[in-house]
Amino acid sequence: MRTYVLGDPTTLFAELPAELSLISDEAHLLRLLAEHDALIVADARRLVGAAASIAAALSSGLAAAVVVVGRAEDVNPALQAFPSLPTVHVSPISRLALERASRHARETAGGTAYLALEGQLARRNAELSELNKIGAALSAERDINRLLSLILDKSRQITAADAGSLYLVMRGEGEQPDALRFALAKNDSVSFEFQESRMPLDETSIAGYVAIHGTAVNVADAYELPAGTPYRISRSFDTKSGYRTKSMLVVPMRDHQGEIIGVIQLINKKRDAAARLKPSSVVETQVVSFDELDLDLVMSLASQAAVALVNTRLIEGIKALFESFVGASVTAIESRDPTTSGHSGRVAELTVGLARKIDGASTGLYAPVRFTSDQIQEIRYASLLHDFGKVGVREKVLVKAKKLFFGEMLALRQRFGVIRRTLEADYLRAKVACLEAGGSREELLALEADHAKKQAEIEVALDVISRSNEPSVLDGETAHALLELPSKSYLDVDGVTRPYITANELEALSIKRGSLSEQERVEIESHVTHTYRFLSQIPWTGEFARVPDIAFAHHEKLDGTGYPRRLKAEDIPLQSRMMTISDIFDALVAWDRPYKKAVPVEKALDILHDEAKQGKLDRELLQVFVEAKVFELTARRAAGNAGPQ
Ligand SMILES: [Fe+2]
Ligand SMILES: [Fe+2]
Repeated sequence: MRTYVLGDPTTLFAELPAELSLISDEAHLLRLLAEHDALIVADARRLVGAAASIAAALSSGLAAAVVVVGRAEDVNPALQAFPSLPTVHVSPISRLALERASRHARETAGGTAYLALEGQLARRNAELSELNKIGAALSAERDINRLLSLILDKSRQITAADAGSLYLVMRGEGEQPDALRFALAKNDSVSFEFQESRMPLDETSIAGYVAIHGTAVNVADAYELPAGTPYRISRSFDTKSGYRTKSMLVVPMRDHQGEIIGVIQLINKKRDAAARLKPSSVVETQVVSFDELDLDLVMSLASQAAVALVNTRLIEGIKALFESFVGASVTAIESRDPTTSGHSGRVAELTVGLARKIDGASTGLYAPVRFTSDQIQEIRYASLLHDFGKVGVREKVLVKAKKLFFGEMLALRQRFGVIRRTLEADYLRAKVACLEAGGSREELLALEADHAKKQAEIEVALDVISRSNEPSVLDGETAHALLELPSKSYLDVDGVTRPYITANELEALSIKRGSLSEQERVEIESHVTHTYRFLSQIPWTGEFARVPDIAFAHHEKLDGTGYPRRLKAEDIPLQSRMMTISDIFDALVAWDRPYKKAVPVEKALDILHDEAKQGKLDRELLQVFVEAKVFELTARRAAGNAGPQ
């Protein structure tokens, strides 16, 4: 074991050892403290005045054997400064005392070395467990900006870095070159307004160099970069803020395929993580270089961060894709029936608005109900797509405004045109025959009167048909007159006797209420089942799994009178009950449709109240819908729109 001396040997030793080396400076001492085969004899005064790094090394476990010697008055201050030292010997130390002390110091060094290893192991374990926690936190974060912030915070936290920046690699498209996006910067010691920017991806910056080469760069002092490095440090931030950038650790973020997607840049590792580097002179005593352990930790964190970032980007991409798919689906539904344009979006807005009010309510039946942001999104998707099944309903049925389809009414009018002409021809033929036979004026007048009567009957019949065709309830007189029409007949162009209206036309015109036949009503109602079938085919992720069920029940009523399954209250999801209220409200107040007039908001709310009183709608939900003025979210927009296009 070689003996090294810190101080003046002639005052420390009673007898100078045969071989000794002098310790040149504190850096030399620091290196020797880590060597197992060194015996260090140190002057107590020199140790007490030494730098903090030496004090830290002395108290955290030594590899070298250390014997401290000092004047009698230096003994106590030295023992107080270094409680881990076994003793401090009064100078000059005798040969015998030195031998004993060095033996003891070697034993202590072995023990402390073991303890130091154990300490290191415990620290390593703690760091690993922290890394695991960080990994879990990173993979749980789904918001890109919050994720970037978390990555930078955690990197700074595990390395005690005062400041840091995060860069993302932007791959250029076509002629555009790759670039670095300066995405985030944080600093514990100076406040500043961060502005995102782009910079060229080249070797002139450390971040660019790291992004290109994929190797980490560890800089002891940013102002004294080794000669020959391609990168430079911009001092503009330091100049403006009075900050002093010193030690830096810059690490690449690689994704699972090894591609570099970003760079983490850490600045000014501190002895004390809580310290603030203000004024900048504190940097000299507080800032140290990043070590191998920091590099290991940040590299490990960076790879987890990269995976989390890629995943989050993928998820955001999928979400955006899905949003556009939902948007396209809504456009598809509403383009088939332009009069319901905007309905899906308004129902979504109203239902989400109601869900938010229910979520925030502290009184009432639903006070305990809470919706997560995913559940709100689930409600939104179900609402946007609730009527998608209308794509499975024939368009002419969807937009049917009167009891007869347009084409049917046209054919009927043409038929009556033929009847009129036929009567006309019959009358003229009879008139000619009468004149040829020398008929009297009275006979001619009788023919004319008969013809006028028949023409009037035709007009009455057409009027009955027109009135019956309206989607309103038939009055008794019209209904009676309608029933007589099939028994009246005419000769068609082929000479075949036919009734004024067919059995099918009579059936359609006899519809009691509205414009739809029973069969057509069933067809319209089938849109709910079509919606459910369509939505069930989408592989919804867990959080949106109930979208098909919620949409499936949007026409159900609490008393079992709804469709298509005639569910009772207990089987209708709360989300569907909310949607039913929004759906009916919007259908009522939306602009005039071919088959109905727009209803004023107050009247629409009255109708909803009536339905609730009859036990069809959820009273509590309707109360919130009205009292919290949820309906105002869209009422003005729905009513004030330009009308059917
Ligand atoms: Fe519907
Ligand atoms: Fe609807």
